[in-house]
Amino acid sequence: MFEHIDAYPGDPILTLNENFAKDPRDAKVNLSIGIYYDDQGRLPVMQAVREAEAQLLAQPGPKPYLPMAGFAQYRDAVQALLFGDDSHARSEGRIATVQTLGGSGALKVGADFIKRYFPGTKVWVSDPTWENHRFIFERAGFEVGTYPYYDEASGGLQFPAMLAAIDALPPRSVVLLHACCHNPTGVDLNDAQWVQLIEVMKRRELLPFIDIAYQGFGASIETDAFALRELARQNVPALVANSFSKNFSLYGERCGALSVICESPAIAARVLGQLTSAVRANYSNPPTHGAKIVARVLGTPALRQAWQEELASMCGRIKRMRGEIHERLRGKVPDRLLARYIEQRGMFTYTGLSAGQVDTLRETHGVYLIRSGRMCVAALNENNVAAVADAIAQVIAQRGT
Ligand code: LMR
Repeated sequence: MFEHIDAYPGDPILTLNENFAKDPRDAKVNLSIGIYYDDQGRLPVMQAVREAEAQLLAQPGPKPYLPMAGFAQYRDAVQALLFGDDSHARSEGRIATVQTLGGSGALKVGADFIKRYFPGTKVWVSDPTWENHRFIFERAGFEVGTYPYYDEASGGLQFPAMLAAIDALPPRSVVLLHACCHNPTGVDLNDAQWVQLIEVMKRRELLPFIDIAYQGFGASIETDAFALRELARQNVPALVANSFSKNFSLYGERCGALSVICESPAIAARVLGQLTSAVRANYSNPPTHGAKIVARVLGTPALRQAWQEELASMCGRIKRMRGEIHERLRGKVPDRLLARYIEQRGMFTYTGLSAGQVDTLRETHGVYLIRSGRMCVAALNENNVAAVADAIAQVIAQRGT
């Protein structure tokens, strides 16, 4: 019966992370998966999360199914965090939000929704993008194309080429965009570029699908949401997938949401119904625990304040480590590969190392990066940064650039 089943080659990120765990060497450093680790290399439990969880556990109760669309207070808190307390689209009831299984779940529910109501459309992703974007949309039945994005020569954005390519897409094409802290490159649009891009997408009647998995890791919670807030402000229909894996350090709780900005409250009600139906067809209803934590933190002023401060300090630590690796690599790697460590934003730096160099780093030095050359700088710390910089310098000296 199953003779014809192909072997799974593994996932470029998650399988590598599993392989890291199996690596018997003591001196190994995991800069592969997008996870924030603290200065001691530990996965933090944020103070506000700890406190909210303690409050919830102090009131144990039954565990019924959540509604298909998710926990109501959570959905409301998600909308306020993403679109702002003063969002008109939100107060007018033009945003439909469902709780999902992390950001990937939001992308899948969104993909199923679009496939059903825009069946012939094609999805366009940045070149490069997070490996799972293409996978999720292809598995949902879409053809996936790319638009220019990253410029390896400068380590920055190819904005004119990106804009021109998007300006040539057929109406109703889906354009997948990263709101902030682009994964894998760490290269973002500035606000003026977002305004220009939104103008093009409006004129061409394209459907933006914004992925925001790193809110708070770029500049701030508010400014990282500029693109989606601007879309909502200008009444541009769009989908927004968000995740609390990173900014709440709640990876395994699978806390995410899908929000759809609609033209009217009546349309939003129908869209919400169809998102709910996509949830039912995929997994019926989402889990409770993480959503209750997030809702409690965001809905309790003191906890929210503590969460924001801790998130800001995590972000500050990443920036310090960027500065430190930059300092240590100065003079050891070509200048064109250096500036990116401090210029790119969020959890990742696109190092410009080749797949072969990444393989040598891993095999010879126990330093794990994704084979695209993506480094998770959020896993650097005072204890490993010197060894990582030395390993990179040696690999470059040995294999060239
Ligand atoms: C990553 O990009 O490393 C993370 O978002 C984890 C994942 O699921 O790929």
